[in-house]
Amino acid sequence: MSTAGHSSDVPRARRFPAGFVWGVGTSSYQIEGAVAADGRGRSIWDVFAHADGNVHRGDTGDTACDSYNRMDDDVRLLDDLGVGAYRFSISWPRVLPQGAGPINQAGLDYYRRLVERLNQSGIKPVATVYHWDLPQALEDRGGWARRDTAERMAELTQVLAQALGDQVGMWATINEPLQSVHQGYRMGTHAPGRCDDEAAAAAIHHLLLAHGYALQALRATVPAGIPIGPTMDPQPFVALDDAAAPVADALDALHNRVYLDPVLRGSYPFELRSDMRPTDELIKDGDMELISAPIDFFGVNYYRPHYIRSGDWSDLRLGETPVPEHPGFVHYLAPDLDRTVMGWPIVPESLRDLLLRLHADSGGLPLYVTENGCAADDYVTPAGTIEDHDRIAYIHSHLEAVLEAIDAGVNVAGYFCWSLMDNFEWAEGYRRRFGLHYVEFESGRRIPKRSAHFYRQLTRSSELPPLVPSPASDGVVPGAQEAAAAVS
Ligand code: FCB
Repeated sequence: MSTAGHSSDVPRARRFPAGFVWGVGTSSYQIEGAVAADGRGRSIWDVFAHADGNVHRGDTGDTACDSYNRMDDDVRLLDDLGVGAYRFSISWPRVLPQGAGPINQAGLDYYRRLVERLNQSGIKPVATVYHWDLPQALEDRGGWARRDTAERMAELTQVLAQALGDQVGMWATINEPLQSVHQGYRMGTHAPGRCDDEAAAAAIHHLLLAHGYALQALRATVPAGIPIGPTMDPQPFVALDDAAAPVADALDALHNRVYLDPVLRGSYPFELRSDMRPTDELIKDGDMELISAPIDFFGVNYYRPHYIRSGDWSDLRLGETPVPEHPGFVHYLAPDLDRTVMGWPIVPESLRDLLLRLHADSGGLPLYVTENGCAADDYVTPAGTIEDHDRIAYIHSHLEAVLEAIDAGVNVAGYFCWSLMDNFEWAEGYRRRFGLHYVEFESGRRIPKRSAHFYRQLTRSSELPPLVPSPASDGVVPGAQEAAAAVS
């Protein structure tokens, strides 16, 4: 592992720019639990997770980290980490149980308490309006395939802006529309579990419209100067040979530019395949203007790149998959690269390149890394610690990539590690742990991992220290003894 890209032999810490925001993230369905408490309605994830075969081992978010009942514990964890910001999302069915209509005051009060507690602790609340838990009542009426859902999100956002607008320090409109469309409406691997390209093409437009409506509602209500923007997960597609280049471009249009171009340029990419292009009937007058209205920042969730090579579908190596609809091309497994337990290759340079690209595409907008982190096979040692050196190395190398982007002139304004704590990892259930805190799901107990101590050092100093190679049993990161101090 390189240390900090300088020429001296003595590794030195590298400083982040003044004002750089250090945060962590979570989302409502992944952590809150309490799905039947205080009038909450059902979301598509309640229904999806409870149906057989959708989530690993039949896990559900019914209890998750029980954060709904453990707000004080979680704010304490944030306090201990020393973060300046906390990105969380709002459960739509907690606030509007039927998706529209009567407000559930108890649900709204929960978020009001949360943002007040965060501000009391000097932690900026960063609220995501939509992070995948659509009210089932809206899905029953057509979900994101229907324009009405985007209009209902305008209403939701008005309610949130009025109730929380004086307390929230930064707003994200939507999270990763790509995953909602691709996994939710095309592959059926996420809620609502549909496999319908026509519905998916409509969902693309309606999710972007929901972003536009949310932006408009927030602009109308929240104080000027509170930053508002989307968070997306542009997936780098890297062609490994000349023949694969057009395929990588087609995938970039299908998975990335279809969301980026409307927001940043006001149009769908010309290169987008016709069956996934929202039809003219769907696009009403004024839609593209609404979708491309100025944003204050662009939030980037980054985990991994994808490699495309030419190759026969009958000659796949273990773990490789055909590129659907592109016979003769495969998703390359990159056996030479380290991968996380998700199977995702670890390529920090790809984050740097993505930040450079988005800097150019957005005309120099402030960028935040709104998610980055890794799942690992964490376990509690007999000493009561969690020695997640691989996660520390992952975060460290990706922060080096952020520094390289900053050095190249990109305005990266902050970094939010995913995640504050282990949680319900969608179709993977609880087997994939992404947290800086270990969660014992039976008891709800949270235990800071070694990476939490590493992260605390970062938030305090805003300096990236040289990394001593793991797995050193002690001394890599100060504070190992404290790791056993559990918050329960
Ligand atoms: C992202 C999601 C987030 C989390 C991470 C691991 O795609 O936005 O909720 O599950 O992946």
